[in-house]
Amino acid sequence: MLDPADPAFVRDPYPYYARLRAQGPAARVALVNGTHAWLVTGYETTRAVLADPRFSNVPPQGAGRPRPDSPAQRARACLARHMLNSDAPDHTRLRRLTSAAFAPRRVDALRPRIEELTGGLVQELAARLAEEGSADLVNAFAFPLPVLVIGEVLGVPEADRADLRDWTYRVGSPANALEQGAVDDAWLRLHRYFTELIADKRSSPGDDLFSALVHDAADGGLDDAELLAMAFLLLFAGYETTMNLLASASLLLLTHRRELAAARRTPGGWATVVEEALRHSSPLEGTTWRRTTEEVELAPGTVIPAGASVLAVLAAANRDPAYFPDPDAFRPGRYSSGTEGTRAAPHAAFGHGPHFCVGSRLARMEAEIALPLLFDKLPDLVLTTSPEEIPYRPGLLVRGPRVLPVTIAPRRRCR
Ligand code: HEM
Repeated sequence: MLDPADPAFVRDPYPYYARLRAQGPAARVALVNGTHAWLVTGYETTRAVLADPRFSNVPPQGAGRPRPDSPAQRARACLARHMLNSDAPDHTRLRRLTSAAFAPRRVDALRPRIEELTGGLVQELAARLAEEGSADLVNAFAFPLPVLVIGEVLGVPEADRADLRDWTYRVGSPANALEQGAVDDAWLRLHRYFTELIADKRSSPGDDLFSALVHDAADGGLDDAELLAMAFLLLFAGYETTMNLLASASLLLLTHRRELAAARRTPGGWATVVEEALRHSSPLEGTTWRRTTEEVELAPGTVIPAGASVLAVLAAANRDPAYFPDPDAFRPGRYSSGTEGTRAAPHAAFGHGPHFCVGSRLARMEAEIALPLLFDKLPDLVLTTSPEEIPYRPGLLVRGPRVLPVTIAPRRRCR
């Protein structure tokens, strides 16, 4: 029986996944909500499943989708119609247009703005640490940066960024964490805002990536409903994942000072830190759910029936000892170019196959800018709590610390 909210599992799900992996390429697991699912935990099988069209991304009718009987639920339902919930040929068309908008030259052009945004946040963080003595690195850095960057991607005007940040924070919060109606209200506002944004981009396109998508729509590309779903998908696929990458990588560096020092002095060191953080602490614990369109024999003796729910557990694939020796260790060196053939296998943190992450280049660039800036400006940043006490987000989809309380080591403060 798997309870994704069980505190022991939330804290450290890796021993559980290692046990499943030892049982075979896929294991049928009873979930606490009374359903069953097949969990795929090996590296090779994960990649095979994600590239196999017999594992569909289209959710079964009505499953997991809020019934659209209130304006806020209607707004939420828009999100469910995005390309991550589609198969070829629909997916191929949406993907072609999105990949064009995310062309490397367009993504690379965001670099100066990301540097500027990161610099601003680090400065604010340094001021808060000086004034208040401590801060939460998730709230002050790992959360706002990806939201601001998505603001750039979507071409949200500067004046609206604070609203975007507030609504995103609210829709990403558990319903009982905020006052009554705050989450629904934020959904409605986001829905209204994106609808207007699309109309604005149609009449006066900007240089942003989203304008490229809206503009392509004029040539028979995406219709309004697809654009709306895309805006939501980019916001959620882009911010929560990158937030978890920044938070997990920061935590790893705060608890591995030798690796931090190596990253600071070695050319290309930050890129290896980012790759290893993606592998070691996969920001998406699992992909979105797949469903078998027919019976699939994954390996002799492992047959998944038609219509079964399947989860490729990226966090587990990335710790498969057959591909990553000493998988639980954080060793950025495994991704340095070194001698031919010694580089580790590519991790699966961005998925594999037709749905491979569209934003991988942007996410890597963001982390490779943010981490050095943070640790260069605040080299004596330390945790104020023991790493074992850091709370994690529950569930099987995303994984990352919920808060990271930090301060400046006293040695420096006295200078
Ligand atoms: C560390 C950051 C990120 C991680 C770990 C990540 C991971 C992933 C993974 C694993 C998938 C495939 C999911 C599946 O097969 O079910 C995916 C898809 C996707 N990602 Fe990312 N992502 C990140 C950042 C971003 C960013 C910054 C954007 C855009 C702004 C983005 C946009 C997308 C989109 C649009 C898809 C759907 C692709 C498709 O269906 O063809 N991601 N991402």
